[in-house]
Amino acid sequence: MRVIINCAMSADGKIALPSRVQIKISNEDDMKRVHLLRNECDAVLVGINTILSDNPKLTVKEKYVKNPKNPLRVVVDSKCRTPGNANVLDRSAETLVVVAEGFSKQMGDAEVVECGKGRIDLKKLLKILEKKGVKKLLVEGGSTVIWSFLNEKLADELMVFVGPAVIGGKGSLTLAGGEGAKCFEEIIPLKLIDVKRIGDGVLLHYRVVK
Ligand SMILES: NC(=O)c1ccc[n+]([C@@H]2O[C@H](COP(=O)([O-])OP(=O)(O)OC[C@H]3O[C@@H](n4cnc5c(N)ncnc54)[C@H](OP(=O)(O)O)[C@@H]3O)[C@@H](O)[C@H]2O)c1
Repeated sequence: MRVIINCAMSADGKIALPSRVQIKISNEDDMKRVHLLRNECDAVLVGINTILSDNPKLTVKEKYVKNPKNPLRVVVDSKCRTPGNANVLDRSAETLVVVAEGFSKQMGDAEVVECGKGRIDLKKLLKILEKKGVKKLLVEGGSTVIWSFLNEKLADELMVFVGPAVIGGKGSLTLAGGEGAKCFEEIIPLKLIDVKRIGDGVLLHYRVVK
């Protein structure tokens, strides 16, 4: 399975306001790129904190793509905290809520699957998704989930849109949070594939070196 991480960050590497409230970093041309990318992926994955703070729909907007094909929406949510009225639980696309062992509960029309003890076992999750026919997975954040995918060497590509703004704030989330590397050997090496100007921002495209 090909796993692509996509994220938008400010010039100082932040992905949200210090309050963790979402902020628009992408411009319209980049939004179009993201929706085209979603359209060609079989599944799109986010962490529960992104659901709680941004309430994204994770569908492909017709405004950007004609005859959109919505990917499976996947939420990594150990304790099954996805609110019943979350946009990912609407009926516009299929949704898989991935919870830790013992945390299953009814989630409207969404499928709920247990995968891992205490925390989601992402390697195992990729196998489950593969069995569902997912060949291309888009990871859209947030910071903790992105670190996990990179740290566990599960991501193949990283696409970062750098918007023309500085958010600042010592505690503001950056592209990759989690535990972070404890020594040089644990940093995640990347190979730059492409750099492209998109209007007032820049798209950096990396291959993750494994
Ligand atoms: N600029 C952008 O492109 C962009 C995109 C997306 C999000 N964001 C921002 O990112 C912020 C949210 O990021 P976040 O780091 O707080 O949270 P997150 O990555 O959205 O979710 C992290 C949570 O997922 C759950 N989880 C379960 N298993 C996991 C595993 N193996 N690895 C990692 N996480 C696992 C954990 O909660 P449980 O233990 O409860 O399961 C964990 O705390 C928001 O402010 C949002 O606005 C920005």
